[in-house]
Amino acid sequence: MTAPPPVWKIALAALPALLACAAAQAGDANKGRQLYGSHCAICHGQTGRSTMAGAPHFDRGEGLLRPDADLLASIRNGKNASPAYRGILSDREILDVVAFMRTLQ
Ligand code: HEC
Repeated sequence: MTAPPPVWKIALAALPALLACAAAQAGDANKGRQLYGSHCAICHGQTGRSTMAGAPHFDRGEGLLRPDADLLASIRNGKNASPAYRGILSDREILDVVAFMRTLQ
C-alpha cells in the first residue's frame, strides 16, 4: 500500500482550479456598460448620477463601499424599488455590471 500524498501535493494540484475560479470572479466593465445601460441607467443614470429620488448615486460611490459578493447578492435579490435581477441577469453578467459601476466617478 502506498502512503497518501502529502497535503502540499493536494494543495498544489488544486491551485490551477483555484486560480481559474478567482479569474472568473472579476467582471468585465465593457460588457457591464452595455448591461447597465439597458437595465440600470433609467434609474441610476448612465454616468451613475441617479435620476430617481432615493436611488444611490454610484458616481459618488454610494452603495459601492462593499465587496463584489455583497453587491452581487443585493442586485440579485433587489432592494425596495431596485428590481431583483435573479433570472434576468446571470451572476456573471451582474459581476460585469458591478465592474462597470466601480469605474463611475
Ligand atoms: C426602477 C428603478 C431602478 C432600477 C431599474 C434599478 N435600480 Fe438600483 N436602486 C433603485 C432605488 C430606488 C434604490 C434604493 C433602494 C433603497 O435603498 O431603498 C436602488 C438601490 C440599488 C443598490 C443599493 C442596494 C443596497 O443594497 O443598498 C444597488 C447596488 C443597485 N440599486 C444596483 C442596481 C443595478 C446594478 C441595476 C441594474 C441591473 C439597478 N439597480 C436597477 C432603483 C432602481
